[in-house]
Amino acid sequence: MSELARVAQAMVAGGRGILAADESNGTIGKRFERIAVENVEENRRAYRDLLFTTAGLGESISGVILYDETLRQKSADGTPFPVLLERNGIIPGIKVDAGAKDLALCPGEQVTEGLDGLAARCAQYVTLGAKFAKWRAVINIGKGMPSHGCLTANAHALARYAAICQANGLVPIVEPEVIMDGDHSIDTCERITEWALHETFAALVNQRVSLEQMVLKPSMVISGTKCAQQAGAQEVAERTLRTLKRCVPAAVPGIAFLSGGQSDELATDHLDRMNKLGGGPWKLSFSYGRALQQPALKAWGGKVANVAAAQAALLHRAQMNRLAASGTYRSELDRKAT
Ligand code: 13P
Repeated sequence: MSELARVAQAMVAGGRGILAADESNGTIGKRFERIAVENVEENRRAYRDLLFTTAGLGESISGVILYDETLRQKSADGTPFPVLLERNGIIPGIKVDAGAKDLALCPGEQVTEGLDGLAARCAQYVTLGAKFAKWRAVINIGKGMPSHGCLTANAHALARYAAICQANGLVPIVEPEVIMDGDHSIDTCERITEWALHETFAALVNQRVSLEQMVLKPSMVISGTKCAQQAGAQEVAERTLRTLKRCVPAAVPGIAFLSGGQSDELATDHLDRMNKLGGGPWKLSFSYGRALQQPALKAWGGKVANVAAAQAALLHRAQMNRLAASGTYRSELDRKAT
């Protein structure tokens, strides 16, 4: 088996999943604002240090997605973050996209940029210790959206990115995110998700991407946040699984969901239900950002005295999601902890 296929499998094996800690400096600033922490480099470093030095994290977390600045930072004792993670049995990864930008002539739609110079950046990230990468495409649902042009532009960029990663020694996480915001029904979300995934896999095949050497990071099939009729958790699980089975080839080793603004416990519950339904030919795991970090951020509040409490909160969420990734989560476990 190739090294990239081995890494891709390791990212989703044994019920472990991925911690997305790759917020850009702008995005982490928004998270810090809510807990009144100043968005300066040392605070960003201290927060990531807290996350990555959590004892036992490696039992539930297979990999961490880092941001460019974080990949180059060090723990308080001087150990570079990628080295620290590897020591704890966690694979370091890196966000390589340059963010979603307005798609010309398509108001309300976006396309992710960052292909220029990507091969050279990937080669440098490998020397800094990264083993996998992430690129997020944003698909908005609304009146007349998404357009065919938006879906194909994003699928093409995802596929070009994935090919460049594989050519330069990184496993690509391919992330087409159908955004939850809006008053659309779960039916619409299912239709758009299926369309987006078909376009994405067609583009991946056209760019000769090896399906064995990638991980898919999709959104779940879920009601729009402002939809009057909210589908229940079991329906979300059934429709998401059905859609993935229609679109994702069995050669893909794993699917690691994003949380996309779902509450932490709901994101865990949905994943658990899909695995209790029997999953699919691929591993079904998580690559959560907010759904793993929210309780930890709140517990921390920027105070050194709260580091242990924040680490306990992160560890708990990671453990709950590991159970969900093998279909053995029980919501009572969350109630007992709070
Ligand atoms: P959320 O789980 O907060 O959606 O973040 C995952 C991620 O990496 C988005 O690109």
